Amino acid sequence: MYENPRLILDSSNPPEPGAITWRSPSNIAIIKYWGKHGVQLPRNPSLSLTLAASCTDTRLEYAFRDEAHGGPVDLDLYFHQQANEAFRAKTLAYLESLAAVYPFLKQLKLTVHTGNSFPHSAGIASSASAMSALALCLCSLEDKLFGTLQDTAEFDRKASYLARLGSGSACRSIFPYAALWGETALVPGSSNEFAVPVGDLIHEQFRDFHDDILIVSTEEKAVSSRAGHALMDDNPFAEPRYAQARQRLDALLSAMRTGDLETFGKIVEDEALTLHALMMSGNSSYLLIKPDSLAIIEKVREYRAATGQPVYFTLDAGPNVHLLYPGNIVHEVRKFIEDELAEHCENGYVQQDWVGEGPEEL
Ligand code: PMV
Repeated sequence: MYENPRLILDSSNPPEPGAITWRSPSNIAIIKYWGKHGVQLPRNPSLSLTLAASCTDTRLEYAFRDEAHGGPVDLDLYFHQQANEAFRAKTLAYLESLAAVYPFLKQLKLTVHTGNSFPHSAGIASSASAMSALALCLCSLEDKLFGTLQDTAEFDRKASYLARLGSGSACRSIFPYAALWGETALVPGSSNEFAVPVGDLIHEQFRDFHDDILIVSTEEKAVSSRAGHALMDDNPFAEPRYAQARQRLDALLSAMRTGDLETFGKIVEDEALTLHALMMSGNSSYLLIKPDSLAIIEKVREYRAATGQPVYFTLDAGPNVHLLYPGNIVHEVRKFIEDELAEHCENGYVQQDWVGEGPEEL
């Protein structure tokens, strides 16, 4: 949708070398995206909260190289100051895939310096923060070289579109507080191609939510997200699941509008368990949760029953448990985590996070 053969540099008037840096956060899905088709198109709409502390900083350096465009993208990549061949190959394939959107990329020598705010291999998925940070750098580069992304809403939309092509869920990290990805009549302007901001549609208490990530295991997952999405293609529960996600989105948006924490919490937990139930109920079943994930889930439900505090769990495609709760109970919940949950985490590791204002250019 953004193919543009005119985004080509004039070699008789080459740009000065420069650099762009963006910091972009991860996000946590409340309604899960699980199952895709075509080029990273979702089978159902998803909704997430934008995080703040778990983020990626990416610096994109560029210099004109006077060569015929048509050759490969010229890229060096450093992850935490170290040349990283695996990330370079992945990023190169991504940039090559953008040839029709950004033909000028082949006219530049590109160097990427990137790093995460959380420890490497902490078991925290970094693709959402990493791909959104890179997409934002690319949009800033387009605007710097051509002046074609002056409108902020259009800038964000294109950054979200480009992030989606790198990693589906990354398209939701572009926006403050909360984002929705996937076409639904519930939100005018929503699209399968990019996410839209929904921070204005939710009660202010959700903008002050915490998400403490309990790291149960840092081991590499047995089944990647990419393989997991593909397994949805012949999952016998796929169609009812996509219908269920739409119904839950409707109920969730109402609850988030009015500040109905209980309904929010119920949907959050149902969605987390549904995601893992889909993994267990496909034709090639697999398990990503661990005994410690289940122990945490049970303790959270017991704690809630005993104290009445609105603390809810969710899960990504992995064993780590996210605890979601409003900011006004942070002290009690942190004590509960320390006293009862940290023992289920690898080396007691908990990544504290909260809902944030979205990416920033540095
Ligand atoms: O963006 P991907 O392809 O890594 O898929 C992520 C899927 C979940 O994290 C499990 C759910 C979601 O909506 O983020």
